[in-house]
Amino acid sequence: MSGVFDGEPSVIVITCSAGIGHFLADEVRELGFRVAWESSCAVETEGTLADCMTLNMKLRTAHRVLYTLDRFRARNANNLYNSLVEIPWERYIQPDGYFSVDRTVENTTILDTRYASLKVKDAVVDRLRGKFGRRPDSGNERDQACLFLHWVDDRASIYIDTTGESLSFRGYRLESSDAPMRESLAAALVKATGWNGRTNFLNPMCGGGTIAIEALWIAQNRAPALTRENFAFMHLACYEPSLWTKVKADAVKAYEPDKTIPCEIIASDIDPRMVEATLANAQAAGAEGRIRCEVADVAMSSVPETTERGVILVNPPYGDRMGDPMLLRDTYADIGVFLEDNASSYDGFIFTGSPEIAEIAGIVAEDRGSFYSGRIECRLLANPALTPDARAMYRRRSSK
Ligand SMILES: C[S@@+](CC[C@H](N)C(=O)[O-])C[C@H]1O[C@@H](n2cnc3c(N)ncnc32)[C@H](O)[C@@H]1O
Repeated sequence: MSGVFDGEPSVIVITCSAGIGHFLADEVRELGFRVAWESSCAVETEGTLADCMTLNMKLRTAHRVLYTLDRFRARNANNLYNSLVEIPWERYIQPDGYFSVDRTVENTTILDTRYASLKVKDAVVDRLRGKFGRRPDSGNERDQACLFLHWVDDRASIYIDTTGESLSFRGYRLESSDAPMRESLAAALVKATGWNGRTNFLNPMCGGGTIAIEALWIAQNRAPALTRENFAFMHLACYEPSLWTKVKADAVKAYEPDKTIPCEIIASDIDPRMVEATLANAQAAGAEGRIRCEVADVAMSSVPETTERGVILVNPPYGDRMGDPMLLRDTYADIGVFLEDNASSYDGFIFTGSPEIAEIAGIVAEDRGSFYSGRIECRLLANPALTPDARAMYRRRSSK
């Protein structure tokens, strides 16, 4: 007999950071789901709550997996409450449990969006108190059952947030770098380079090593949430642990920790503290000894010979967060020379929040689109090459 978890399919909305929706859509399709709609920061598909478990386990570029409970029209807070109180909350929220409500609200009758969350809480609590004579607690902690309200104009959608804390926190980042990148973004960048997991992957300027660790996990087919112990779906009244045990067993079976990867993954940084951080993070990620970590200036970093084209992905410091743009020009020039020198056997990529510094340094490249690291808009520059003038200038400088 099927329970609520593998019962009714519904619309599932999966969120991600702005700019990587396209990579998320690819992942969703690869897992066998149909993509009904996608934007730069979300993808819509259809499935059951049990499918949400699989999506939570396997998606590398996602942040949250939202299962739609209802969509309805609501002009004001009373309309909202009246529709919400009809939802059979007893199926989802435990009368003695705890839940939180997050929201996106743009409705002219609502001056403080917290009021909309309060209406959701009231509807859930009133319904459960009516049924059981007891009521759940609610608050802002996201480590138990989570609901999400999306209400724009008079269109409201209420979701079960099956994830809780964002999927981008994998749990391996013990040591932070100066400008740590979210794990989900790092995974999207590895995918954006087209790396196939079988050729060398070099990550100079590695900081805390996030990009190299995500590359290794892709090569090993390691599900990103393999060791995560808490998801919001585990706190639902209808949770069926046996279904999760199966999702987990499948992920354990697919993971190939001892697979001999026919390539090298190298992470290097000029700052020894960053290399230490990468080593510590790699150990926490079960990647100890699988990533070569080196202290090196980008210009001197190791480039093993390769028969199949490899990938070099560099995430240099950028102006507004990490220093004076003009002082960084020479660093970018070094990156340009380094990538150009190795272009016969490696595809080069620069991920930066200051593409103008690359331009000032005389680098020309294909622009592979806009991504967001926090609030900073960044670009992925592919196949960078130096203008003839810049090349002549840097060669002259290095021969002095
Ligand atoms: C934007 S951070 C990289 C952040 C990284 N993606 C992460 O998620 O942690 C840039 C890194 O470049 C390093 N760096 C700066 N100049 C360098 C150089 N000339 N050669 C090698 N690394 C350099 C810094 O130490 C810093 O760790």
